[in-house]
Amino acid sequence: MKKVLLIGADGMLGGELKERLEKKYDVVATTLETLDITDRQAVFSKMSEIKPYFVINCAAYTNVDGCETHEELAMAVNGTAVANIADAVKQVEATFIHISTDYIFPGNLPVEQIYTEDMNPNPVSAYGRTKLVGEENAKKAGKYYILRTAWLYGLGGKNFVKTMIRLSKEKDEITVVNDQHGSPTCTTTLCEIIEKVMEKEPEYGIYHSTNEGFTTWYEFTRKIFEIANIKTKVKPITSKEYKQMYPQSSDRPTNSQLSKEKLKKIGIIPAKWEDALENYLKEELK
Ligand SMILES: NC(=O)c1ccc[n+]([C@@H]2O[C@H](COP(=O)([O-])OP(=O)(O)OC[C@H]3O[C@@H](n4cnc5c(N)ncnc54)[C@H](OP(=O)(O)O)[C@@H]3O)[C@@H](O)[C@H]2O)c1
Repeated sequence: MKKVLLIGADGMLGGELKERLEKKYDVVATTLETLDITDRQAVFSKMSEIKPYFVINCAAYTNVDGCETHEELAMAVNGTAVANIADAVKQVEATFIHISTDYIFPGNLPVEQIYTEDMNPNPVSAYGRTKLVGEENAKKAGKYYILRTAWLYGLGGKNFVKTMIRLSKEKDEITVVNDQHGSPTCTTTLCEIIEKVMEKEPEYGIYHSTNEGFTTWYEFTRKIFEIANIKTKVKPITSKEYKQMYPQSSDRPTNSQLSKEKLKKIGIIPAKWEDALENYLKEELK
């Protein structure tokens, strides 16, 4: 059995991934309590103790709005700490799987266009800036996969789907942004992609890793309500209107659709976002 060091194992993605990988790998899972990735010495010492084959980093500072006011802390976790992991990975000659985001892109392409892995990043938010530094640092591992995901939701964490369902019970009408385009992605799909990458070990590099298809936050909400049979009204608003309501909120890409052609070329075909959502809601609403 190959040894895996799974970092950030009590997060939304990390929790589900841990459960799945334990069936096939010898997994050592760490959390913020047991391994703070900003502690370089602790990271090196854990790495030499475990000597893993794969190292997967699911740890991050993921509060996008919070990053605007806590950029230094976010940079320490999402940016600088990734170099601690990558350098230690290199020392033990392991393979690094690092999770990144669509928010490293500016998101100003026309809606008909899609970002490929080789297009220039240029984030519009503090979160995106810190994650981009993380990507650059992840490459120091030499043997690395950077999986860029987007609009992530899953059973084990706070997420947009749960928030919309909660708000639907508290309000008669909710307003949701309708001019940002992206791909809602279920942690289950992302776990499947990660597992396939571990099996196939394709060429190292960056792979866009979201569910297939795209939508807006407004249409996403309508789909959630349709599947869950929720009757609360949903009103579309623009990003500009949202910013007026919440001036502290972070800017977000208008179009962050990610092409999955590179993933498909290695035989990994992610589920459509609507199908993944339906499967997720079957569990969530039980
Ligand atoms: N959520 C999304 O919509 C989204 C979208 C695109 C990409 N991503 C990326 O996907 C990955 C997984 O996201 P997620 O939503 O599963 O995140 P999450 O639920 O917020 O989990 C992140 C985990 O990292 C831990 N952590 C924070 N600082 C740490 C440190 N210094 N050392 C060790 N652990 C630390 C957190 O612990 P505490 O909870 O105790 O702080 C938490 O358990 C991340 O790389 C994220 O950037 C997420």
